Amino acid sequence: GPEAETLPRAPVVTVMGHVDHGKTSLLDYIRRAKVASGEAGGITQHIGAYNVKTDRGMVTFLDTPGHEAFTAMRARGAKATDIVILVVASDDGVMPQTKEAIHHAKAAGVPLVVAITKIDKPDGNPERVKQELVAEEVVPEEYGGDVPFIGVSAKTGEGIDNLLENVLLQAEILELAAAVDAPAKGIVIEARLDKGRGPVATILVQSGTLNRGDAVLAGASYGRVRAMLNENGKPVTSAGPSMPVEIQGLTDVPAAGDEVIAMVDERKAREIALFRQGKFRDVKLARQQA
Ligand code: GTP
Ligand code: NA
Ligand code: MG
Repeated sequence: GPEAETLPRAPVVTVMGHVDHGKTSLLDYIRRAKVASGEAGGITQHIGAYNVKTDRGMVTFLDTPGHEAFTAMRARGAKATDIVILVVASDDGVMPQTKEAIHHAKAAGVPLVVAITKIDKPDGNPERVKQELVAEEVVPEEYGGDVPFIGVSAKTGEGIDNLLENVLLQAEILELAAAVDAPAKGIVIEARLDKGRGPVATILVQSGTLNRGDAVLAGASYGRVRAMLNENGKPVTSAGPSMPVEIQGLTDVPAAGDEVIAMVDERKAREIALFRQGKFRDVKLARQQA
């Protein structure tokens, strides 16, 4: 059919960096909630996804864990994103997961905005951090490069407005747009089996609109969206581009990074899912029953 009209959409911004460099604290400050201090051991276990209304427009943030065990998650985060905020603590500098995040962002062709965090700390050395990043070929504008560097503190809030301004400026350059009035396409951010609710998946809608009741194919799983929650756990009936939602109703737990598409025909979604699971006999049976 004819292409659906596209409309501007919120940027998807992934926050990456070494463990404990202040990713969650920064997002927490932006959301003005107290999430970081409530985390067990202060370790981010999963990608958290938030759609935030800032003074300067809507932004969808993905938080990622800095722990080295989460390499694959950072790679997926880079792929799902429009912009990466690279967080580097002023008192610790460039570390292994900083380098890895740079690598993922570059591999995905995603622009970086550097946030030098914890600038309230007297033992911090933002100038040294700059030099270390230049050595990784992440060059600030003041040295002739094209990467904005902004010093921030999640304690005092210093620099955070400036950071958001730079992120939204980058987003403007990208002229992000997506169809709204179209079947949803998106990506699985995380998924798990919930004891009471069955398979639960956090999905980032990338284009179109996902509605409660839609038949969906997510990797090798399928189902119908029985319930949909926003990031605050509030029920919603639909989600447009750049919106993260948690859905229930899949028959299996999809893998993080799986592509999600809404389909008119649940039977077709089931057939493709069975095919992807390698259950060719079941595909044949389903076709005979149809
Ligand atoms: P992981 O998710 O485990 O990789 O950590 P993270 O990058 O999300 O760091 P987190 O926000 O959990 O912060 C780690 C520690 O640094 C916590 O003790 C924070 O209170 C502290 N911290 C974060 N930002 C700042 C800051 O701007 N100033 C100061 N002084 N401390 C900060
Ligand atoms: Na932490
Ligand atoms: Mg964290």
